[in-house]
Amino acid sequence: MREIILQKLSGGEYISGAEIADSMGVSRNAVWKCIQSLKNDGYIIESVTSKGYRLSPDCDKISAEFISYKGKIIVLDEVDSTNNYAKKITAEGAENGTVVIAESQNSGKGRLGRTFVSPVGKGLYMSVIMRPDFAVEYAPLITSAVSVAVAEAVEELTEHDAGIKWVNDVYLNDKKICGILTEASLGLEYNSLDYAVAGIGINVRDYDFGELNKRVSSIEHETGKIVNRNRLCEKILNRLDFWISRITERAHLDKYRDREILTGNMISANFGAEKIIGKAIGIDDNANLIVQTEKGIIHLSSGEASLIRKVQEGANE
Ligand code: BTN
Repeated sequence: MREIILQKLSGGEYISGAEIADSMGVSRNAVWKCIQSLKNDGYIIESVTSKGYRLSPDCDKISAEFISYKGKIIVLDEVDSTNNYAKKITAEGAENGTVVIAESQNSGKGRLGRTFVSPVGKGLYMSVIMRPDFAVEYAPLITSAVSVAVAEAVEELTEHDAGIKWVNDVYLNDKKICGILTEASLGLEYNSLDYAVAGIGINVRDYDFGELNKRVSSIEHETGKIVNRNRLCEKILNRLDFWISRITERAHLDKYRDREILTGNMISANFGAEKIIGKAIGIDDNANLIVQTEKGIIHLSSGEASLIRKVQEGANE
């Protein structure tokens, strides 16, 4: 009943309690009670005498009803990690394209064993389940496709350029506003990818990240815009769908290259047990970072690279 009423309230126009009650075959009192309970749960519902109710266009509570998407969306109030939850339901048979979103995570996971700070109402924390039909050789491209989808969605909603820092961080100005953690399981059959869970964490609202403030920020802080999280989620999912369905064409890579911020600059990175220093000279067709070092050219497939120094355009480096 809550979901049906939410759907009716989210059309933009006011709708009377009587109309809702009649269309659902329930009493007006039952509708009123349901609306009160939605308000208690944080939905902003406007009411105008003689017109009825509608969900405020500013309502930012995450709800599957407000996200137009072809797949199933599961919204949780709190979870340890949406990636963990997604992996669990994948093992139980969740379908390709299922999305898990949480208002907060109490053990949000970052790459390389780090934690991802996920306070309630401040960000978008979501995991997309993929059961790809493409060959396993394309699996390393998933994360880069996710980065492009996030960057495009952020740009569309904020009208600010977004950067991508290899391998998968999305930046606004010089600050990280989004991290991506993709976890995959190989199939038993040769050359197959059983599933991949692409976890996306975006800092949407201004927040004090403490000592991380030097490197980490939010969309609101960097652009002054308060982006609706349902809209953001919808745009990401639809762009992701677009790029994943074209992954074998590697069509997103040029969009990735256009935004990649290490390229052209001096970087340091771990290469196995070795620490390397060199100039990032591009992204190859498998989304590896190409680095020119004193010893020759290296293609980095994983790990982390840090900017040491920006190289001025035209400088002799
Ligand atoms: C990183 O920056 O190192 C990656 C961060 C990934 C965070 C997202 S939030 C949703 C999903 N669930 C998690 O536990 N992690 C990812």
